[in-house]
Amino acid sequence: MQKTLSIIKPDGVSKKLIGEVIRRFESNGLKIAALKMKKLSKTEAEGFYYVHRERPFFGELVEFMISGPVVLMVLEAPDAIKQNRELMGATDPAEAKEGTIRKQWAENKQNNIVHGSDSEESASFEIGYFFSGIEIF
Ligand code: CMP
Repeated sequence: MQKTLSIIKPDGVSKKLIGEVIRRFESNGLKIAALKMKKLSKTEAEGFYYVHRERPFFGELVEFMISGPVVLMVLEAPDAIKQNRELMGATDPAEAKEGTIRKQWAENKQNNIVHGSDSEESASFEIGYFFSGIEIF
């Protein structure tokens, strides 16, 4: 079994898409192994997106991620990282495939409803960033 971190971003929460997104995960074989709602601090968001710190969009991305609560989840499946990324669609909704979460609801590259770990290495860092072992079922 593989685990990955999913975040429903502030735009997904304010658009009342929590249920829709979780439904897609559960009906496509991704088990919810952990879940919590949280308003990130600036320091927490900066630390989470540390790898993007040199990108021109970093400051705006952090402000967006702290603009409202997010839903943090650990998803589990045999191929969870790839499966989650397929359900999300491309970062840019204009490039996302029909039927994906981002194609259907994302406004732009930044306000793109969900985040998903992109590799085993980042999944391990991202899950450990938000969850302790006893919070994962
Ligand atoms: P996410 O999957 O959370 O990983 C990094 C995030 O940075 C990405 O989703 C977007 O929200 C944001 N992002 C990536 N590229 C751009 C861009 N070109 N402009 C603005 N935001 C971006």
